[in-house]
Amino acid sequence: LIAELIRSRKPVADWPAMLFEVVDNIHRGDVLLGQPFEPGAAIRATLARGAKETLVEVDKSNLRGRGGAGFKTASKWSFCHATIAEEEGGVICDIDGHPERFIVCNADEGEPGTFKDRVLLNSYADLVFEGMTVGARVVGASKGFLYLRGEYRYLLQQLEAVLKCRREAGLLGETILGQMDFSFDIEIHLGAGAYICGEESALIESLEGKRGRPRNRPPFPVTYGYKGRPTVVDNVETFACAAKIAEKGGAWFAAIGTAQSTGTKLISVSGDVARPGIYEYPFGVTVSQILDDCGAEGRPYAVQVSGPSGTTISWKEFERKIAFEDLPTAGALMVFRRKRDLFQVAQNFADFFAHESCGFCTPCRVGTELQKKIMSKIASGYGTASDLEELKRLGHILKTMSHCGLGSSAANPVLDILEKFPDMVESKLKAFAFKPAFDLDGALA
Ligand code: NAI
Ligand code: SF4
Repeated sequence: LIAELIRSRKPVADWPAMLFEVVDNIHRGDVLLGQPFEPGAAIRATLARGAKETLVEVDKSNLRGRGGAGFKTASKWSFCHATIAEEEGGVICDIDGHPERFIVCNADEGEPGTFKDRVLLNSYADLVFEGMTVGARVVGASKGFLYLRGEYRYLLQQLEAVLKCRREAGLLGETILGQMDFSFDIEIHLGAGAYICGEESALIESLEGKRGRPRNRPPFPVTYGYKGRPTVVDNVETFACAAKIAEKGGAWFAAIGTAQSTGTKLISVSGDVARPGIYEYPFGVTVSQILDDCGAEGRPYAVQVSGPSGTTISWKEFERKIAFEDLPTAGALMVFRRKRDLFQVAQNFADFFAHESCGFCTPCRVGTELQKKIMSKIASGYGTASDLEELKRLGHILKTMSHCGLGSSAANPVLDILEKFPDMVESKLKAFAFKPAFDLDGALA
């Protein structure tokens, strides 16, 4: 790839976009991808219906957060909206007289193997900004932020251009579509490459200009967010879905997918497949269906669902469904064929978590380093059965005692390999058979 980039003689600044094109292969879907969308349609529908009724539609749709955790979007929005009534003396205003509530789009897509938000921002930015604007109308926010992953800097210029067009079309800024009581604008904030800033409270700290360190939750951002004000933080895909729901109604969305997981899910497929890229499926699709569609090579052996903080499943589980009630995912699906060394994959992820730990709390700061060291010891052929016990003990500490989601999921890839692919790990231990420098039997004889 690098050789091809050099041969292309294109400026180095264009290389990230050219590299990403390789996997930004979009496979059309039913709700978000490839569907016509007229900018302004969702805002017009929201204004016609009213903020309260729009919230009812989002509730009917049963939309759940697409960042992975699946919290109900209507609940989040209504908690934020409810703070208006709770505030003593009514709405607290900023210096321009706007109520201080914020909408934040979490585009700090850092989970290895996940690249669906990048595709949405690259090709469907209008839909995302429209969803943020609908959210602003519902909760009463006048300011929004798109927190863009540092590595996606190459998208910045084109995203600013989309925002400019929307301002010119009256879809952002003062008195949106002539509505005197509706002003909302979006600012893009560029991250600096820290995975932890994808955690919503660390993201807010970073937005405030501080070091990205997760806060204690509760209070959740809906009541205490940016600058201590009520803030809705949602994933890029969640806002895109919200725009479609505002336009087409909650019942339309709820009819897709399963009862507990409505709508569709964007899946970033990578690994040993003939056709990597972005796929959109109604929730409830089986892993084996996705593997067929993307041309999984040979006989896939394992699939990692939702990246390293998710689950690794073996070929015995390929009939499981992508859904919050079975296999929830932020969107990554990494396929490994039979010959892949899954231990090495887990070791890479252990290195990743040790590198990305923010170092704030001891279980994660020390635990991820110890996990990395033990994995490296086993990989070098010096591992013993007691190291496996130590990994399990560490995993339990990380899961139960970490301050945030990074630490509590940092042991997932290691524990999954130990539990589901014990042969792969034991074969590494076998390499450490005790070999004396001379033949003990012969010497004794
Ligand atoms: P969480 O379950 O704590 O919260 C999910 C959302 O619901 C948050 O916005 C939170 O503020 C809100 N929420 C939860 N309970 C609430 C309450 N009682 N009142 C008001 N709001 C409430 O999950 P968390 O820790 O925010 O995210 C973890 C998830 O992120 C994991 O499922 C993981 O798969 C995913 N993840 C996604 C990545 C990506 O690149 N998209 C990267 C790493 C992890
Ligand atoms: Fe930081 Fe890890 Fe603790 Fe989260 S769990 S606060 S990433 S040290």
